[in-house]
Amino acid sequence: MTKTPTLTTANGAPIADDNNSISAGQRGPLTFDNFRLMEKLAHFNRERIPERIVHARGTGAYGTFTLTDDLSDLTIADFMQGVGKKTEVFTRFSTVGGGQDSSDYARDPRGFAVKFYTDQGIFDIVGNNTPVFFLRDPSKFPDFVHSQKKNPRTNLPDPAAMFEFWANHPQSMHQMTILMSDRGIPSSYRHMNGYGSHTLSFWNSDGRRVWIKFHLKTDQDVKTLTGAETAGLPSHGAQRDLVESIDLGIYPSWTVKIQVMTETEAKHSALNPFDLTKVWPHNEYPLREIGKLTLDRNVTNYFAETEQVAFSPSNLVPGIGASPDKMLQARLMVYPDAQRHRVGTNYQQLPVNAPRCPVNHYQRDGAMAGLAVCPVTGDTANQNGDVNFYPNDRDYAPKPDPSVAEPPMPLEQDAWVGAFDTEEEDNFSQAGNLYRIMTEDQQKQLAANIAGGLIQAETSVQERMLRQFAAADEGYANRVETAMKGLL
Ligand code: HEM
Repeated sequence: MTKTPTLTTANGAPIADDNNSISAGQRGPLTFDNFRLMEKLAHFNRERIPERIVHARGTGAYGTFTLTDDLSDLTIADFMQGVGKKTEVFTRFSTVGGGQDSSDYARDPRGFAVKFYTDQGIFDIVGNNTPVFFLRDPSKFPDFVHSQKKNPRTNLPDPAAMFEFWANHPQSMHQMTILMSDRGIPSSYRHMNGYGSHTLSFWNSDGRRVWIKFHLKTDQDVKTLTGAETAGLPSHGAQRDLVESIDLGIYPSWTVKIQVMTETEAKHSALNPFDLTKVWPHNEYPLREIGKLTLDRNVTNYFAETEQVAFSPSNLVPGIGASPDKMLQARLMVYPDAQRHRVGTNYQQLPVNAPRCPVNHYQRDGAMAGLAVCPVTGDTANQNGDVNFYPNDRDYAPKPDPSVAEPPMPLEQDAWVGAFDTEEEDNFSQAGNLYRIMTEDQQKQLAANIAGGLIQAETSVQERMLRQFAAADEGYANRVETAMKGLL
């Protein structure tokens, strides 16, 4: 029989009584020596860290990525070599706009973030359940998020503001069409696809670069809900679904695929391959199956793991690089900045964020330094007493490895530096193509979902939106107009 552990203070000292504060007499006030009470209350006051500015509500689980196709032809990434290679992962699913206690069933994109603990450092896919995004320029992100979150006066959702943003930003047309379609509310996190969305680069041992996109296709089938079907569902339903399914041994999985574009194809492509509002047509850039992602272990502590996990598009490993996608470029800087604020300077030392391979660098100190212990060397992440400057004359001290250098990134010839207005880009063809492959029932659902919000916007917003729908497809505009009239 195991012995019941003794209740202690945080400094480990046994506690005699945790129910009663020390007071001056039975009916008297508390005394100044209630330091145990103070510890308990002071820690309680500090239990919260800032919630994520977006994607605040989420749920996570551990699992494995198994490589089913050797990718040494495309990349030197260590976890992409050798069929059968297994890599531990942590995945966090989320909604975007709502706070931590908002509903899992909002009409909202879903975050799909995967942390690969590779032998050569951490690689993150920080994607969504949609292959494109609302924006192609990061300077629009705060405006966009403000318009989608709650109204600053009423603190209520504000569909009129959402459409006001979209009326002023035709670049959102493609993603807005996906959001308002029957795919806008996944029935659970297990029943949706994931997409890296951005174009990344792979480079191989010959230094040859290709551009790639990640796709994670659910093996559980895509299942969705209509707005009406979400009424009455518990706000934490998708979280419960994932936790319980893993606890029951029903492990969700996704088939991982990539699209590949050569540098030459990219140079001659009419489509800007680095425009996040566009998909790469599958008939021109077919999907290549590369692996399987399976989730089979729930967290042991939600706060320590799921709340403090820090994903970033800048978590790249040798063989996988960024691309000129302007949105990605901003994201490379933004995420670590957010996490230094949200979690703290040494957030990468927390167990869920710590690499599973040795970390050797010359960064030192800061709040809570020394938390992590390297699983390989047993050293602390503050590098013990080792030399703290580079270069130095010590043979044993860490040195860069030129063999992992990324090939130089090609730039546009005769490029000049300036602010580029992308208003003239084709914002409508792919939205129109998507509309035309929908069944009549799907087109009706799309129009009804849009009409419900658009009817609340100003007339000039409605007019501009109808012009955008018509630019995608006349039938699209007609259906939305009819659906709006039906609501008058
Ligand atoms: C310039 C555009 C963007 C900015 C400035 C931005 C900013 C942020 C920030 C600050 C966070 C919170 C990070 C944290 O506190 O840990 C976040 C979370 C997230 N973002 Fe973005 N984001 C952008 C675009 C995107 C895009 C295009 C996608 C998907 C394709 C995306 C997917 C996610 C996901 C999945 C999370 C949650 C990660 C998690 O589960 O912890 N974001 N974003």
